[in-house]
Amino acid sequence: MLVLEKNAMTEEIEQLVAKFGKGRSSLLPILQSIQRKHNYIPDFAQQEVARLLDIHPVEVYSVISFYAFLNTKPKGRNIVRLCQTITCDLAGKKSVALAIERELGIKFGETTKDNRITLEYANCLGMCDQGPAMIINERVYPKVTPEKAVEILSEVK
Ligand code: FES
Repeated sequence: MLVLEKNAMTEEIEQLVAKFGKGRSSLLPILQSIQRKHNYIPDFAQQEVARLLDIHPVEVYSVISFYAFLNTKPKGRNIVRLCQTITCDLAGKKSVALAIERELGIKFGETTKDNRITLEYANCLGMCDQGPAMIINERVYPKVTPEKAVEILSEVK
């Protein structure tokens, strides 16, 4: 089973290299394609991209860590992001964060076991006058209190 998966991933990356070319400039489009298809870039895929492009794996990893839209771990169906920038911080972000963590039983940076929710911190969401601000997928929630956050999360499928 594992061998089959490995072969499928290698084959997929070989096709991407054939499509985008073997140069360094192909690195980002190849990683984006893998991310689109798998929702993250597994360790094995990172190694294979490095091998097939003939670059160091650290280079692949540093590109992935630079771009927020590229992930090395699978994420949940819903991404909940809480603003951690100063204005929201002063407006009570901490108590909202604690209530969310308590409700979901995970920490920020983690994903629930059922893959329903990934928790992340975000930087200013442009709602500084209405903090603490939270964004779930594309939708922004202003003036979130701990109680409101728990209520909103209960509606996330
Ligand atoms: S500081 Fe949180 S939205 Fe700007």
